[in-house]
Amino acid sequence: MKIFVYHTPELTPTDSLPHCAVVIDVLRATTTIATALHGGAEAVQAFSNMDLLRSESEKWPENKRLRAGERGGKQLEGCDLGNSPLDCTPELVKGKRLFLTTTNGTRALERVQSAPVVLTAAQINRQAVVDYLRQKQPEVVWLVGSGWEGGYSLEDAACAGAIAGALSHIMEVGNDEVIAAIALYSQWENRLLDMFRQSTHGQRLLRLNCEADLRFCAETDILEVVPIQKEPGVLVAL
Ligand code: MLT
Repeated sequence: MKIFVYHTPELTPTDSLPHCAVVIDVLRATTTIATALHGGAEAVQAFSNMDLLRSESEKWPENKRLRAGERGGKQLEGCDLGNSPLDCTPELVKGKRLFLTTTNGTRALERVQSAPVVLTAAQINRQAVVDYLRQKQPEVVWLVGSGWEGGYSLEDAACAGAIAGALSHIMEVGNDEVIAAIALYSQWENRLLDMFRQSTHGQRLLRLNCEADLRFCAETDILEVVPIQKEPGVLVAL
């Protein structure tokens, strides 16, 4: 198993695809996806575009759908939810499809949606994803951070390091970013919340009064769920 880390969707190669792509958006899209699926959502369907989300979700029975939309950390008008994982309670999401669009995470998913296997990972379900990779050992794995509008995100790099570090004894290093991500995680693993508070998107979320989200996103290995793509853009719990 050869692992590559790419810090943003824009940095992924355009002339090849891995056997398995793992999309990471710790703050907060992939934390929300893991929480919704763990809470019993039928699926999460990701869109980079709100207009497409609206028209696709119209086709779904109203009592079986939730529209979740975020830009710049804020809830989009006309949506039932923003992108807070804490809103995805089992009472709300059970049996429903979450139609989700976010600033970066859903764009990252779109970038790698043609890979044969697409997973999402966050700190909260890191171990479940590590166990999947350890068991399946796909030949080439990309860990793709969502970043922020094309730029690097500290928390996504740290989560990539947390995954790669747990597999270091059975993997081949694909690029230098893997080594850097492992070193980053080992520096912060016991102080992830501090890291999130210092990161630019963490600070944006704090300005929007999302301290509780930061705390939740910093929890490690609390949910045993592996979100896996079953058709382009549609994620289900494995
Ligand atoms: C994103 O996709 O950029 C995020 O998940 C932003 C957020 O809602 O915190």
